[in-house]
Amino acid sequence: MKPISLTNTEQKDSDKQSQAQLIEQGQLPDHIAIIMDGNGRWAKSRGNLRSYGHKAGVDSVRDITEACAQLGVSYLTLYAFSTENWRRPKIEVNALMRLLASSLRKEAENLNENDIRLETIGQIDRFPDKCRRELQEVVELTKDNKRLNLCLALSYSGRWDIKEAVKKLAHQVKEGDIDPEDINDDLISCHLSTADIPDPDLIIRTSGEYRLSNFLLWQLAYSELYITETYWPDFRRKELYKAIHSFQKRERRFGKLPNNEQESKSKLHIQELTT
Ligand code: FPP
Repeated sequence: MKPISLTNTEQKDSDKQSQAQLIEQGQLPDHIAIIMDGNGRWAKSRGNLRSYGHKAGVDSVRDITEACAQLGVSYLTLYAFSTENWRRPKIEVNALMRLLASSLRKEAENLNENDIRLETIGQIDRFPDKCRRELQEVVELTKDNKRLNLCLALSYSGRWDIKEAVKKLAHQVKEGDIDPEDINDDLISCHLSTADIPDPDLIIRTSGEYRLSNFLLWQLAYSELYITETYWPDFRRKELYKAIHSFQKRERRFGKLPNNEQESKSKLHIQELTT
């Protein structure tokens, strides 16, 4: 397979080794979702404007995308602009839109050559025409790519996503196409904006905040959570490897007992309850 190159630098041997080690030592998350936070504080701590932090954040996006593609992670979802972010000062919102449009223009060919598919979730019809067009063009250009699915959550919120799914289902009930009793987890999942994407295995939040901030509320039900103090512009592949390593050490139980205790403990427990 053609080597991945988004950052225009040759991959160092030490990085290849780190990746090989991660691949060897355990299961990789198939889908990583990231709440990219701390751009403003990163810029402020350097005496700069917040937009300087967002600009530096794009370099992290590139590095993390490249590392995920090299590792063989199938899905990367980035919370790039929340529904609540519209409440920020107009000057910051405009700077973010311009940055998004210019980054997409610069990266489009690069994403395509590296077999990366760009998708979006959220209300992109709220975005300025130029930015929306730029997005749609890159989505169209990359739609057949297979190596990594890069999904940008834009003007997105988890509650909006659930609300829209509920509306669609309510219409179907009203039309008599489904019975309310048919509504189950799978049916809800396939009416969300992420219908064609599996739920995230790992959710990372940078900058030390312990919140989900209205991101993928339904889809994160069983995701492993990793929070780091590192601000997003400093979150590069070494930090990603730490998060993946932490994920690999966990046992995902999905509400069940640990694997080695499942059978014997549950028998014991039933005995205790019934005697
Ligand atoms: C959060 O930091 C970050 C954002 C609201 C925007 C993230 C956008 C980028 C990294 C750049 C564009 C992205 C792409 C995909 C090209 P914050 O401003 O909330 O930081 P703070 O919490 O320190 O104030």
